[in-house]
Amino acid sequence: MPSVREIQEATGSEPITMLTAYDAVTAGLVEEAGVDMILVGDSMGNAVLGYDSTLPVTMDEVISRTASVVRGTDDALVIADMPFLSFGTDLQTGVENCGRMLKEANANGVKIESGEHTIELTERLDQVGIPVMAHVGLTPQSVNQTGYVQQGASPEEATSIVELAKAHEKAGAFACVLEHIPANLAAQITDELEIPTIGIGAGPDCDGQVLVINDAVGLGDWLPPFAEAFGDVRGEMQSALSRYVDAVDSGEFPAEEHSHTVEELDELY
Ligand code: KIV
Repeated sequence: MPSVREIQEATGSEPITMLTAYDAVTAGLVEEAGVDMILVGDSMGNAVLGYDSTLPVTMDEVISRTASVVRGTDDALVIADMPFLSFGTDLQTGVENCGRMLKEANANGVKIESGEHTIELTERLDQVGIPVMAHVGLTPQSVNQTGYVQQGASPEEATSIVELAKAHEKAGAFACVLEHIPANLAAQITDELEIPTIGIGAGPDCDGQVLVINDAVGLGDWLPPFAEAFGDVRGEMQSALSRYVDAVDSGEFPAEEHSHTVEELDELY
């Protein structure tokens, strides 16, 4: 997989691919598929932890999942997503929490849902050697202020998203996620930034694309309007699970080939 530096320089060349993963087995498959970067997203809250939003996700949950993704891959570029309130209160707490992702989970960098309050943090993280992926547009940790609707539809909103992306590039971010914004706004930001943009619900003109793994493989019971299921893992699991229940109920499983006996055991009794 490429390094952070190679990703930073990969604008305008081959599209960058990123997918989320939250466990070692899935991460291994994602790496095998040739994906450029793995994001251990706080989307784990909805995708695998059973929360209604990303807000309850904790530092410990992201650290544990990131460490497992790193263990499940050979040389993947793994980015840990900073959970709600692990940054943004004060600079020192933010720096220390981001540092834990590298020190304790072996991540290669962090992603931070960006705002005015993360510009100085991004600058400090860059100075201490922690690569930062910025994230503008729809930032799900602000759901209570914005809802999950497309951002940047008005000229004022669009201008502030462009400015935010540029401020984070200037502060040292190596890439910037653009989530759920108009495709023409994403194209403009991609044009104006030197660092690569990674889009989700942001049209085809970004330097790369990211999807949540559950959506990409068809595991979820719901698909955002901008995502595509490239498989039907949910259907496959449902059919395997009901075949298992039927086989046990009918006595077909375990069959003789699954049952191993030893002669000597008779002598125990
Ligand atoms: O948490 C996440 O998975 C994300 C991506 C959707 C960009 O932030």
